[in-house]
Amino acid sequence: MLTLNVKSAVAFISGKEWATQQEKALQSLDKLESRTGKGNDFLGWIDLPASISADEIAAVQTAADRLSSCADVVVVIGIGGSYLGAKAIIDALSHSFTTLLPNRRHPLVIFAGHHIGEDYLAELLDVLQTRPTACIVISKSGTTTEPAIAFRLLKQHLEERYGKAGARDRIVAVTDRSRGALRTLARQEGYPTFVIPDDVGGRFSALTPVGLLPVAVAGLDVAALVKGAADMSRTTAVRNADNPAVRYAAIRNALYAQGKKIEVLVNYHPKMHYVTEWWKQLYGESEGKEHRGVFPAGADFTGDLHSMGQYLQEGERSLFETVIHIGNERSGLTVPADTQDLDRLNFIAGKRISECNRMAELGTLLAHTDGGIPVVRIEIPQLDAHALGGLLYFFEKACGISGYMLDVNPFDQPGVEAYKNNMFALLGKPGYEAQTRRIRDAVNRLQ
Ligand code: PA5
Repeated sequence: MLTLNVKSAVAFISGKEWATQQEKALQSLDKLESRTGKGNDFLGWIDLPASISADEIAAVQTAADRLSSCADVVVVIGIGGSYLGAKAIIDALSHSFTTLLPNRRHPLVIFAGHHIGEDYLAELLDVLQTRPTACIVISKSGTTTEPAIAFRLLKQHLEERYGKAGARDRIVAVTDRSRGALRTLARQEGYPTFVIPDDVGGRFSALTPVGLLPVAVAGLDVAALVKGAADMSRTTAVRNADNPAVRYAAIRNALYAQGKKIEVLVNYHPKMHYVTEWWKQLYGESEGKEHRGVFPAGADFTGDLHSMGQYLQEGERSLFETVIHIGNERSGLTVPADTQDLDRLNFIAGKRISECNRMAELGTLLAHTDGGIPVVRIEIPQLDAHALGGLLYFFEKACGISGYMLDVNPFDQPGVEAYKNNMFALLGKPGYEAQTRRIRDAVNRLQ
């Protein structure tokens, strides 16, 4: 069960402001649930987890098993919402050193197409030469440059190694139901496919086959993940001020109204790094519009306390923190005693490492609150598939509510096109001739 603790943060705002923002959040929840707000043709994610059937999960598992039976390495190609959900879930729930495990039972899932790194792609092709390989290509539009380049390379690589028919057995496409370029290619080549529903945008698609298929290949519990999200969809549909998604949206907007323009999502667990990256896209792309929106930043503690700690404690007071607290760790590892005790840490010998981490977390909470940082705490009992499914859905729901509170459309991303248009013009894409001339002049002036 997820709980939200806003005690420290509420101390930074007036009771009246808190009540006003909670009421606004409830109104925004109404808009979301009644499908009457902006971007309401992209709300398929709201009921999605509860509507995923056992047959759909079985189909994902069957495809994953087929890829696993012929590959040691599965390359997942996608960017943004077509990548971050799977990466976040796999990193959070897998062994930290999967690549070094001697008797791995599932293929290694690695990612490509999430940037345009030439050496990365060349080095990837090098290491794939000696390993049985398969590929999941994920793109709703099918025309996104980064994954399209990576897929050209992977397709060529697999066809050269296994022939056209062999490659067909090793490629699965996850894309739009009927329209996109990848759908057309998959039809022509005969690739098995999964559908990204029309009414689910990229950054809300982690619980569709976009996230579920790579997660199943990694051998993780898809059914528990979906159940966690479905349970959370019920909790966050309730119209009252205890609804954690309502409270989270309310507190971040209340703090934003007080000039706290930056939210730092903090974790104390290295496996959570990509959950933060996923969250940054979710909130950044959903809210950063019309010159509004809390800037989403992230920090991995305690490591980042040794780099960002000074700024957080004493820098400009324009930020607040949201800490993800995870209850139990499983391994039971303790700090060993040392006869010399040169580091003077024998006083913690025998204590669980997680206990030390917890004290670091509490100590930081007190220090940062004293330093003028409002801190919101999201608490989950342990890091497992059910809790993570719930956490992801909680963030999605709160994001929809929070975006409506800011009066933006949380479900579009018009700003993402600007760099793409310039890049196409600079690369000389047919149809961009006038823009190409204009932009090259502008670039010359800058150099
Ligand atoms: O959230 C979004 O909409 C984006 O991050 C997209 O997912 C991303 O740009 C990839 O798009 P596509 O799946 O069409 O390749």
